[in-house]
Parts: sequence; structure tokens; C-alpha cells
Amino acid sequence: MADSPTPQKETKVSPSVPSLVRAPLRGEVKRRGVLLAGWAIFSAGMAGMVGVMGRFMFPNVLYEPPQEFKAGLPLEYAVDAVDMRYKASHGVWIVREASGFYVLSTVCTHLGCTPNWLTADEKFKCPCHGSGFIKSGINVEGPAPRPLERYKVTFAEDGQLLIDKNVKFQSEKGQWTWPGAFLDFVG
Ligand code: FES
Repeated sequence: MADSPTPQKETKVSPSVPSLVRAPLRGEVKRRGVLLAGWAIFSAGMAGMVGVMGRFMFPNVLYEPPQEFKAGLPLEYAVDAVDMRYKASHGVWIVREASGFYVLSTVCTHLGCTPNWLTADEKFKCPCHGSGFIKSGINVEGPAPRPLERYKVTFAEDGQLLIDKNVKFQSEKGQWTWPGAFLDFVG
């Protein structure tokens, strides 16, 4: 009689084994989650600190145009005209008369707005509260308490106009007759 194959003994897997395997996995996942969260918080904190240090080391700086600048040759300016070419970039009007130049500040002496030159009316008119200044810079209407200020103008070594906004002249202090408040030129 042939031997009948010995039935393989079935290995019974306890239903509790998978849960025993999963349990450490769950624990691992949980630990990783906590680690990741901790790392994220640490990174965010470091990024914030770097930002604060960056602002400390590189504070907001307003870069203004140079206070002293060349403004071209005298013959580039029309006689009896208020020249606007440096109004926006440097805050000045350059006025050429038959006998020379003066340079006016574009800051209204009331509260600091920027007036407009009205060619037809031959005056600077401030849009904020209505102050008016004639071409010389003298205040003639509105609340502005004093004339526009003038800046120093001389010739650079190459013959161009050289404007220095570090030096101001105020009419009410008698400074418009000082050297630099007016540049003689006939050409
Ligand atoms: S700021 Fe020019 S009139 Fe007030």
C-alpha cells in the first residue's frame, strides 16, 4: 500500500499577528509625523530669524538722486523759459533769463506739494491749496508764507551748469543776492 502523502501541517497564523506588525508601523509613522512637524516649526522659526536679521543688516534705504549734478550747457536753455527737464528727477526748475540762470525748488513753501508751471499765466500754481508764485519764485497768492527756495548754480569745469541742492537761498533772508543764487550768463 502506497504511502499517502502526509498532509502538510497548516501553519495557523494568529489573527493577532497583523495587528502586532502594524502596531510598530503606526508608532513609527507617528514618530515621523512628530519629527516632521518639529522640523517644520524649527525651519519656520529660523526663516523668521533670518528675515529679521536681514532687515537689521540691510534696512530700507531710500536712494535719492545726487544733491549735486550737472545740467547741460547754457545754450541748451531757451531765454525767458522755465525748464522742466529736472523737475521730476531732481526737484528743480531751471530758469534762464537774458542775463543768466537761477534754480528754483519745486517744493511749495506752504505744506510741501509740487506746484505746476502754467506757461499761459506765467506762474507756478500749487494744486493742493492754491498758492501761486511768479516766475522769480515770489509768492503772490494763497497760503504759502514765503517764496520758493533757490539752489546754488555755478559752472562746472566743462562749461555745464552745476547745481548744488546742498546750498539753499531764501529770499526772505536776503539770500537771493548771494553768490550762487544767480549765475550770470549772456550768450
Ligand atoms: S502745499 Fe502748496 S498751497 Fe498748500
